[in-house]
Amino acid sequence: MIENKTPMIIGSDHAAFPLKEVLKKFIAGQDIPIQDVGTFSESSVNYPEFGIKVARAVSEGEFKRGLLLCGTGIGMSMVANRFPHVRAALCGDIFSAKMSREHNDSNILVLGGRMIGETLAIEIVKTWLETPFAGGRHQTRLDQFDVI
Ligand code: RB5
Repeated sequence: MIENKTPMIIGSDHAAFPLKEVLKKFIAGQDIPIQDVGTFSESSVNYPEFGIKVARAVSEGEFKRGLLLCGTGIGMSMVANRFPHVRAALCGDIFSAKMSREHNDSNILVLGGRMIGETLAIEIVKTWLETPFAGGRHQTRLDQFDVI
């Protein structure tokens, strides 16, 4: 059971709808409150609509943590990282997920629904949720983002 119960917001496009459903169930099963902003079927939609909803909620502090999915994860990470205070990390492996928390304090995890299987996706989410930010020299580096 994951100890960190910080509420999450999740969104995807049609390409990652099946994986979103799997991950939502996994996260809810860990007693982590999760708000789903859609999409709610495999009918074709435009990913920025859902990326904006999640990224805005994290950017404005409504949620501390978000999860975004599209076919590759690329479009969603591009959208999310346009928002102030969002540090969205596209991860396709467990080590990247761990480092994105430890070194980059990522607050949105982005996954590609057409890139990875369910088991790996769950392990990535688990690692991402369980790994704390290391702070120190890494915070100094993150502070430099704010001059952009
Ligand atoms: C949808 O076909 C696809 O373009 C989208 O899911 C995503 O991969 C974009 O980056």
